Amino acid sequence: MKQLYSFRLLSVILLSSLLVVYGCGSKGGTTPPPNPCAGVTITVAGTISHPITGSSNGSINASASGGSSGFTYSINGSAFQTSGNFPALAAGSYTIVAKNTEGCTGSTAFTLTPINPCTGVTINVTGTTVNPTFTTVSNGSISATASGSSGFTYNLNGGVFQASGNFANLAVGTYTVVAKDLNGCTGSTVFTLTAPNPCTGITINVTATTINPTTAAATNGSISASASGSTGFTFNINGGTFQATGNFNNLGQGTYTIVAKDLNGCTGSASFTLTAPNPCAGVTITVSTVVTGNRPCESNNGSIVATGSGGTGPYTFSINAGAFQTSNNFINLAAATYSISARDVNNCVSSANNVVVNNLAAGPLFLAVQNVIQGNCVGCHNASGASGGMNFAVDCNIVANKDRIRVRAVDGTPSAMPPTGLLPASEKQKITNWINAGGRFTD
Ligand code: HEC
Repeated sequence: MKQLYSFRLLSVILLSSLLVVYGCGSKGGTTPPPNPCAGVTITVAGTISHPITGSSNGSINASASGGSSGFTYSINGSAFQTSGNFPALAAGSYTIVAKNTEGCTGSTAFTLTPINPCTGVTINVTGTTVNPTFTTVSNGSISATASGSSGFTYNLNGGVFQASGNFANLAVGTYTVVAKDLNGCTGSTVFTLTAPNPCTGITINVTATTINPTTAAATNGSISASASGSTGFTFNINGGTFQATGNFNNLGQGTYTIVAKDLNGCTGSASFTLTAPNPCAGVTITVSTVVTGNRPCESNNGSIVATGSGGTGPYTFSINAGAFQTSNNFINLAAATYSISARDVNNCVSSANNVVVNNLAAGPLFLAVQNVIQGNCVGCHNASGASGGMNFAVDCNIVANKDRIRVRAVDGTPSAMPPTGLLPASEKQKITNWINAGGRFTD
């Protein structure tokens, strides 16, 4: 303000100088008009109301004095208005300029600082509580009221604020009620609801009669449970839904836990085991076998025919712990020791573990031919000199090449074997007889 005043004063002095200059050059001099603001000091005073933190509800009510009347007012360079009252101000710095009818001005800076609406406000929450009737029920309540401010809303344990301080359907526990006034100032109190434990001193016993399922796979067992030690029981099985009766049907073998709950939620429990009769108890299954040995010099051809007895047929069979099959005939077996199992309709199983398939012995017709060949052919047909690719020292090579042997040694076609001349007729007949009988190792 002082600076502004000084500037105006300087302007007046400059203007006066010009007039003086003009006056000196003119014919008849004139005197400059008097400065209306000279010697005038305009003072701006005001009452301020600080805004609440974060809002624009502060105000400045300014009034000017000094000089003539008829003031208008401007705030922070705004247009001049007749009222010196500036409402709706946020926290900050404001300069109010007052101007009188002659245009003389004065100003004052005001600072609005945010005020905490809760300073000095103490909100007390009091209340009455109704405890739940038992630890097992939620029928307690809290009726809270607050004092120390106005326009309260309430919440419970950090929940949504509501107009009423009444909270119902509460279980045993600790609850914090917060009361909040119109300005967001809060106060709180912790309330504790307690209740007697209705189960103290109560022991609930669960007993039952059980019916076992008729077989291992059946689900026709049942449990009929009843409870004692209190009243108004409901029952559940294996943690399921509580029901009015203790009867549970359609049960397979297994262990079941029955819980009985009285009217106050007190519980007792017991476990019951349903077992199915073992259908194999007292049953001895015998596995008998008829073995046919393996005939050498062919692909595996031994076989075992199994028969089960002692259980409930029909039986299924497995070999060497393989899958059970309907057929009791195992074929194409090599010479070895086998385990044969028979299983009846109740899954009762028994095994014969040392079923031996042997290699069958050489037959007499083959032995006669073997004798002829060892005497007449092996000298040229052996491991070191397999003439024509044939080693007749190995029995199965005789079997495998019987047709070629007949052609060469019996028919002499295309040339005789041995090369030195055909065998005697009796020897050739041995070859013919064996081949006609089947030409196998066992013939
Ligand atoms: C002195 C040696 C000698 C004797 C003994 C001999 N073989 Fe041979 N064998 C041969 C020779 C060499 C060949 C190959 C040339 C041929 O196939 O004629 C042959 C080839 C064969 C063949 C192959 C022919 C074919 O068609 O694949 C047969 C089969 C055979 N001999 C059977 C016999 C029988 C059976 C005897 C005894 C009864 C016999 N050999 C005695 C020397 C002999």
